[in-house]
Amino acid sequence: MINLLHGDCLEQMKTLDDNSVDSIVSDPPYGISFMAKKWDYDVPSVEVWREAMRVLKPGGHALIACGTRTQHRMVVNIEDAGFEIRDVVSWIYGSGFPKSLNISKALDKAAGAEREVVGKRVRMGDSKSYSSDNTKSLKCTSEDVGDITAPATESAKQWDGWGTALKPACEFFTLCRKPLSEKTIAANVLKWGTGGINIDGCRVGTSGATKKVNTEECRESLGKYGDGLNGGTVSKLDAGRFPANLIHDGSQEVLELFPETKTGSIKPHKNEGSSFQASKEITGSHKGDSGSAARFFYCPKASKKDRNEGNNHPTVKPTALMAYLCRLITPTGGVVLDPYMGSGSTGKAAVQEGFSFVGCELDKDYFDIATARVNNEEHLGVRREDL
Ligand SMILES: C[S@@+](CC[C@H](N)C(=O)[O-])C[C@H]1O[C@@H](n2cnc3c(N)ncnc32)[C@H](O)[C@@H]1O
Repeated sequence: MINLLHGDCLEQMKTLDDNSVDSIVSDPPYGISFMAKKWDYDVPSVEVWREAMRVLKPGGHALIACGTRTQHRMVVNIEDAGFEIRDVVSWIYGSGFPKSLNISKALDKAAGAEREVVGKRVRMGDSKSYSSDNTKSLKCTSEDVGDITAPATESAKQWDGWGTALKPACEFFTLCRKPLSEKTIAANVLKWGTGGINIDGCRVGTSGATKKVNTEECRESLGKYGDGLNGGTVSKLDAGRFPANLIHDGSQEVLELFPETKTGSIKPHKNEGSSFQASKEITGSHKGDSGSAARFFYCPKASKKDRNEGNNHPTVKPTALMAYLCRLITPTGGVVLDPYMGSGSTGKAAVQEGFSFVGCELDKDYFDIATARVNNEEHLGVRREDL
């Protein structure tokens, strides 16, 4: 079942039944007026989260993306609506660019003083090329990205090297839960199918640690845990790492933060492809809990593929990341809700994982992109099952 609703999520969610979805996975406005977008002027209100909680089954989990500067406002509203805050999943990455004001330059500019050019700033990179026999070669490249200048005034010399912001390297997903309706988790999962986290389905570091489900049967189910189980097969489930509240992007910069040990070998990769492919490259013996970055799920920022599907949304989340998050908190054959679906990354991911999906989006252009992406994924799934 796919139900895409165009309009304000507070109004749209009012059309949904009480206790009708199994999880919420969402990337709402962070309230930082990103790229001067009107839709990002504030974090969602307590009222919105109250409505989302009404729709969610008791014991159902939500994973809500938050930015570093406004996560406190986001989480307070979620908590004030009645959710229990259970954890924070941090996603760390190396590709962020610092938006820091150079105070020394600002002082010289204010004084009208000209700075002497003392060098060139160069960005190093590499480019791929292919010869006629299709052999790939890598060439180091360098690109001029501006002048290096010396401070001119006394105050600029004093403040040389000072700025106003750090390099962004993480985003958070607040993990929260609607209070149970029953006295125990055991009674709650039996009544509603919600209350648990899919540990084995999200173990990390082995290619077989994923529960494969028959998506056709899951889609026909009403989403209660067990409804889709008959169609589910456990394929090659082997012991991977226990899923952690840390996810990284697999970039060289981030991998260097983790000590390499005998229990894990790391092969860094380029910022492309899906985490499922990529996780095969970062492997280890997975014994004990020491080791390297191999013990954590990793997913690069949105790939070109994610953006290529006619998708011009400025804050696209990677499908592979959203798929992992959906799988972590949604019972087999369950319904995922995203009240702020943007270009539909959560919806596409949910369908890929064999879940039903309900999504809301205010902006018509983004709504159309989301509709195309989610429906396309649904058709691909049906075609795959036909094979
Ligand atoms: C951070 S973006 C989500 C991006 C999404 N994760 C993706 O991969 O495309 C948040 C979205 O929420 C939408 N939005 C903002 N306020 C809304 C509201 N009241 N109801 C529904 N959607 C809203 C915005 O138009 C925006 O597309």
